Amino acid sequence: MRKGLRNIAVISAMAVVLVIALAALMTRRAPPAPTAPTWAKVEVELPVSPVIFPPGKGADIADAQCLMCHSAGMVLRQPPLSREEWAGEITKMRSAFGAPMPPDQVEALAGYLHGINGAQSQGGASIVDGQGS
Ligand code: HEC
Repeated sequence: MRKGLRNIAVISAMAVVLVIALAALMTRRAPPAPTAPTWAKVEVELPVSPVIFPPGKGADIADAQCLMCHSAGMVLRQPPLSREEWAGEITKMRSAFGAPMPPDQVEALAGYLHGINGAQSQGGASIVDGQGS
């Protein structure tokens, strides 16, 4: 009989703990509603490099297709590459970085870049960082 009473007391205590835990869960405050981010319009004027590619057959393609993202120095300061390696480099610009260059100009530009290897650009270093990025 005593044991039965103790069991009832234990079960009652557990029930009380359960009710308290449930009540605590139900009264938990909801997380704050997310607030909309505030955006600020900024004006950025990027410097324009005066450096273009050295003259030659295909220089017009390089000026039109390569200077929209980086300086001529980025291209002119590469180690001497074969025609095939330049074609691979141009293909990388198209496929990895999204250069909008028509595929039928790749061979002509690869020939030009191979031909001018080592040629110094006419205008010196890029004005962006002085190094041709
Ligand atoms: C859509 C933008 C874009 C255009 C257009 C573009 N490039 Fe790039 N180029 C990049 C990016 C991005 C990098 C990587 C820069 C870095 O790693 O700091 C890069 C890097 C390079 C490099 C350095 C070596 C390397 O592989 O990272 C060379 C050489 C190069 N480009 C050549 C060219 C030539 C030649 C053209 C013209 C067909 C060209 N790029 C057009 C975006 C472009």
